[in-house]
Amino acid sequence: MKKISLFFSDFHCGSSVGLMPKMDYRRGNGGIYNPSHAQNIITDIFYECINKFNDIIDKNTKGKKRPKIILNLVGDLCDGGNHHGSTQFVISRLSEQRRIAIACVKYLIESLNMKPGYDAVIFYSGTPSHSGDLCESEEVVARSFQDYVIPAIKPSSSNDGKLTHNHLRYNTNGQIFDVKHRGATPGSRAWIRENSLLWTIKSLHIEEILNSKEPTSWYIRAHNHQFTRAIYGNGNKQITGIILPSFQLATTYVYHMSRDIDTRFGSYGAFGVIVDDDGNATEIFSHISIDKDDIAIAL
Ligand SMILES: [Fe+2]
Ligand SMILES: [Fe+2]
Repeated sequence: MKKISLFFSDFHCGSSVGLMPKMDYRRGNGGIYNPSHAQNIITDIFYECINKFNDIIDKNTKGKKRPKIILNLVGDLCDGGNHHGSTQFVISRLSEQRRIAIACVKYLIESLNMKPGYDAVIFYSGTPSHSGDLCESEEVVARSFQDYVIPAIKPSSSNDGKLTHNHLRYNTNGQIFDVKHRGATPGSRAWIRENSLLWTIKSLHIEEILNSKEPTSWYIRAHNHQFTRAIYGNGNKQITGIILPSFQLATTYVYHMSRDIDTRFGSYGAFGVIVDDDGNATEIFSHISIDKDDIAIAL
């Protein structure tokens, strides 16, 4: 059976420039809040990614059994209470941010037509300053999707389990995925953009070979909001490193801290890999760089 791994991360729900599906959000006091123009820009990218992935899944089905979907949510689902003293929130109350994140994950699962028991969702802990000290936001959100979740610790009658993973290696049809929120970072200059990622995957690959460990095929990280890709090796001894794009436009903190256009404007979207029965892998991108003028209108 073909298996398709999808990687979405850094929704930053609750941020005024984070992901917020287009719907009314009811508050306990009777109020209603709606996504802003900036949020609608990022949400349109989210919808576009899902449509693109659905087209690819359809092409890979063609009368046969649909590929199994492994949906990886690689951390920072919520923006948190006051990262860097930010006041740039739709709402800073964590329970409300988690409601928005639940709406995002529910939308993803439903629009990808995922089926419990066949498809799977894997949650990863994000950055503590966004997700809480023990990254509890991802854990709380994951508990709404227990029928789909591959847990780190399986719940039982005597143990309520742990649904989020700090780090996970998994194997689909012979392709090994190594997934975690933080890892290699993109370089700050164009000519060194992939360097940290390349040296990291090269080191990992050599260590795994020296230790007779099954070599990682895909090193997937998030956190930096800037799509970066590097490859080391070839054939069945190849490792691809990916730093995922995000679903959060630049905050005022990012504008303040960044040194150049590339790091300021980041990249938006998601990533995937289809692995066929024979272990052949095909990358699928849905990665968008927004023109800076669009951002200027959004903010
Ligand atoms: Fe992030
Ligand atoms: Fe992060």
